[in-house]
Amino acid sequence: MPSTQTQIADFTFDNCLMNAAGVACMTIGELEEVKHSAAGTFVTKTATLEARAGNPEPRYHNVPLGSINSMGLPNQGLNYYLDYLLDLQEKEPNRTFFLSLVGMSPDETHQILHQVEESDFKGLIELNLSCPNVPGKPQIAYDFDTTEQLLRQVFSYFTKPLGIKLPPYFDIVHFDQAAEIFNQFPLRFVNCVNSVGNGLYIEDEKVVIKPKNGFGGIGGEYIKPTALANVHAFYQRLKPEIQIIGTGGVLTGRDAFEHILCGASMVQVGTTLQKEGVAAFERITKELQAIMAEKGYERLEDFRGKLQYLN
Ligand code: DHB
Repeated sequence: MPSTQTQIADFTFDNCLMNAAGVACMTIGELEEVKHSAAGTFVTKTATLEARAGNPEPRYHNVPLGSINSMGLPNQGLNYYLDYLLDLQEKEPNRTFFLSLVGMSPDETHQILHQVEESDFKGLIELNLSCPNVPGKPQIAYDFDTTEQLLRQVFSYFTKPLGIKLPPYFDIVHFDQAAEIFNQFPLRFVNCVNSVGNGLYIEDEKVVIKPKNGFGGIGGEYIKPTALANVHAFYQRLKPEIQIIGTGGVLTGRDAFEHILCGASMVQVGTTLQKEGVAAFERITKELQAIMAEKGYERLEDFRGKLQYLN
């Protein structure tokens, strides 16, 4: 049986599949369900300092080729997730989990990161630079000056293993500019991609979600080519110490295989997990293993990043 074991920043995971932040990770009950599934680990819902109710409902809608959402960062607040993770690392010291976070302002982001730095948390931290759904707030990662300044300040005091969640970029020059910034810092991973921001889906002449008059982040089948391009663009450009997490359009083992072929060391499942539940992890893992077995690959390193080009 081929192995789907992987490593991020010296931590080993039995499986390369996990949830994408935002799906099945708002409450301890949901996180426990992912923890007990075939997933290798989980990431928590992006936490702000204080709990937030988020945007009015309906704010998530499944559609045939994916999903649209404008959740507005509902979450239980940093302490809820941090306390749970601290408890978990006592009970399961051999497993590593991800804490996702961002402040509602740069000051709040630093306050959160200082608290995490000073805590006993030993896991991985995902700083979310790509939340598209808070009305009036632009995505941090689409402003390169702000991103560089934020990372410079963060790494003046933060020493724990930190990566960033990115939105999709659509221009080669933006891949170049973003990578030049990220390569200046001791990031452990970049996660490509968050939802394709601000799509619009219509049914019966009406939008399907209430916030922002129906505009919302798009996930699922729609976004796989964009996700793969971002995974591979950063795999080509980033220093080897910065690993890639691939997220976007993972419905099948073949989708996960393609993310890894493009350079991903871990693969996250968002819309498919929302639609199918945690059984998706076992199904996708088995499909991935079947593809690997057919090709004679025994471990992910046998094909990671080995995308072939036409000469
Ligand atoms: C939300 C959506 C995102 O894509 C994200 O990265 C963080 C939060 C949200 O709307 O809750």
